[in-house]
Amino acid sequence: MAESPLHLLVLAGGESTRTGGAGPKALLGLCGRPLLGHVLEAVSSIPLESRSLVVGAKHGDEIRAWMTENAEDSWEIVLQPEALGTGDAVRCALDVLPEEGRVLILYGDMPLLTSETLGFIAEQETSAMLTAVVDDPTGYGRIMRDAEGSMTGIVEETDADDESNPIPEVNAGVYLLDLALLRTAIFNLTAQNSQGEFYLTDAAVAVLEECEGLTVVLEDGDEEVRGVNTMAELARASRIAADRNLIHHMEEGVVFEDPGSTFIECGVEIGQGTRILPFTVIRQGVRIGADCMVGPFAHLRAGTCLEDGAEVGNFVESKNATLGEGAKAKHLSYLGDCVVGSRANIGCGTITANYDGKEKHQTVIGDRAFIGSGTVLVAPVKVGVGARTGAGAIVTRGCDVPDGTTVVGVPAKPIPPKT
Ligand code: UD1
Ligand code: CA
Repeated sequence: MAESPLHLLVLAGGESTRTGGAGPKALLGLCGRPLLGHVLEAVSSIPLESRSLVVGAKHGDEIRAWMTENAEDSWEIVLQPEALGTGDAVRCALDVLPEEGRVLILYGDMPLLTSETLGFIAEQETSAMLTAVVDDPTGYGRIMRDAEGSMTGIVEETDADDESNPIPEVNAGVYLLDLALLRTAIFNLTAQNSQGEFYLTDAAVAVLEECEGLTVVLEDGDEEVRGVNTMAELARASRIAADRNLIHHMEEGVVFEDPGSTFIECGVEIGQGTRILPFTVIRQGVRIGADCMVGPFAHLRAGTCLEDGAEVGNFVESKNATLGEGAKAKHLSYLGDCVVGSRANIGCGTITANYDGKEKHQTVIGDRAFIGSGTVLVAPVKVGVGARTGAGAIVTRGCDVPDGTTVVGVPAKPIPPKT
């Protein structure tokens, strides 16, 4: 069966009621990318014949728009007109799936599943599903087994009685199913449960029973199978993802003085030997070279690039900012939409005033420039190579400072040459 074509189906057709009306759950940001983006990333290395995504009537357009903008592969987007349950969502998608083959079904709210686990499920030779042993099974479907250990059913939290409640083996929500068997099982579903919904779980149990499929058990599944149903769960998952990022960077030779107070989103590059000091936030897409120093209390936002040996210190915020090799901005600065040359020194309290109320403009600071404390650089403006500004100077829009020149005052003017 592993030879048969593999299709992917992701479900995001729910109404996101438990996240308190903050838009579609699948698009809630977690560590720099939406929940759905994490799922797409986790399956990106699995060879797939086709990819389908179920969206609902309530949030479908938003999710569709996000996919158009961000998904790299081609996706079939299927509308589930009414959120009648995960089984109904799959039923809607059967029209776009072939009669035979295998389908890997995932939920769009499980951002911590790893590509290793999904890859392992995807290569099984028979229908299979992932279960997990967890400390706290609250919210999950519970796996029921008979005396021989065979799975007999999945009982949802809301349908669980006192006897099934404390069972620590839960349904992780990852299924590899034979499409022909799935069609029959979905056709046979009923909505006789406390939520009046069609449960995919019932269909999965039927398929596995029919073909003697496998349950793959994650023994220590607390982190990986964590689904996000509430904002509190989003926050917990976010911390776990950030911790994974920290570990990854540590393995690459980055030094963290206090990982617990440091938040690094996904998709950040940091070079060897760089030191990150406490209370630092580094957003998605930031690139930091080797032997840099960042923080404490630094906030590096999208589009920031620090070349090797650059230093960004206390209470410095950067966005769309490139700092050349060995450039320094050590205290109390906003560096937005700017290019800072190598070994330039940005004095304490320097601000690039990049926004005129309508548009953002760029500031360019040359190599070895020395920007005095408290300088405001009103963009668009250029400060030349080796140029200097005096403390408290306001370099006004378009009044570029030539190479090697010193300007002072408000508005900043060149110091007349000494006679
Ligand atoms: C589901 C499983 C549960 C499992 C848990 C793992 C069912 C019935 N239950 O519960 O056994 O332990 O995930 O996290 O499947 N969706 C649709 N259409 C719908 C309803 C939901 O597309 O009509 C989508 C949602 O957008 C979501 C996913 O399916 O991405 C799961 O739905 P959710 O309501 O979060 O299911 P859980 O209660 O978490
Ligand atoms: Ca869920």
